[in-house]
Formats: sequence, structure tokens, C-alpha cells
Amino acid sequence: MPKKTKLRVWTIFSPGDERLLRTPGESVALADISGQTVQRLLDDMLVTMKQAQGIGLAAPQIGQSLRIAVIAREVDPALPGPLILINPIITQPSSDQVPIEEGCLSIPGVFGIIRRAEGITVRYFDRFGQVHNMTTAGLLARVIQHEVDHLHGVLFIDRQPEFTRGQELLP
Ligand code: NI
Repeated sequence: MPKKTKLRVWTIFSPGDERLLRTPGESVALADISGQTVQRLLDDMLVTMKQAQGIGLAAPQIGQSLRIAVIAREVDPALPGPLILINPIITQPSSDQVPIEEGCLSIPGVFGIIRRAEGITVRYFDRFGQVHNMTTAGLLARVIQHEVDHLHGVLFIDRQPEFTRGQELLP
């Protein structure tokens, strides 16, 4: 496990900082995953996501142009802990599409219903540099698709949502 150091809560960019949100993330070199810089960033992202009460966070949202995303464990009870996706690639989106309401920490107060694949297979590296191929559906598949979009500089508002008031997402 990484050495415990003081964690940093990063500022999550709003559309005012759009240039960095629009910059595609670069792949993380495999040899760098175990290094302190990446391990520290992963821990910081988990804390930042929790502090913001988000269920997912992508590195470009805090101005780090890297292909890294984290997803809260609460998204899927089957997860053993928060999901860390390094260099994720969605290899098999299902042809079935479902409409689900989405929001984004970088676009506060904006919500909309978007159709996306109901199920996906995603290939990614974990924080130990192990490769995984995970097939999943439902909310987890949805959040992964949203976060992988961020790694390409794409926001949910680009996908022509039917804008809503967030009824299904807000407490
Ligand atoms: Ni987002």
C-alpha cells in the first residue's frame, strides 16, 4: 500500500475552466503506476470525490490530463471498494441503450437524460498495474461511460441530453 501522506483535496473545474476539461488525457505509462506521483494522485482523487459527494471523478476534472478515473463503491454493491480505472478502454458496448439522468461535478446544477449503452466491457489497469476486463451493466456501466468520456474531453452536455431538474439524482 502507498505510504500515508497528507492528502490534497483538489479543486474541481467548472465550465469556466473548460480548456482543461476539453484536453484529452494521456495514457499513464505502466512503469509509472506504482510511482509516488500516480499513487498520490489516486488517493487525492478519492478524497476529492468524497468531499464533493460525487460518485465518479476523472483526472481532467482537476486539471490533470491523464487517463485516470475513480468511481465510488456506492455505485455498485458488488464492488469491494472504490473502483480505480487507469487507461480504461471500453471494448464492448452493448447495443441496448437506456435513458438515465446524469449530472457532473464540473457542471453543477445541470442535469439531463442521455441514452447510453446498458452494458459494457471495460479494459483497465488497477493501482497495482494489474490489467482487468470487466463486464458490467446498470449504474456502474453508466458511470464508467461518463468518466471515460471525460478522458476524451467530452462532457455529458455534448451528448444532447434532455435537460431535467435533477429530480432523480438530488436527495
Ligand atoms: Ni462528470
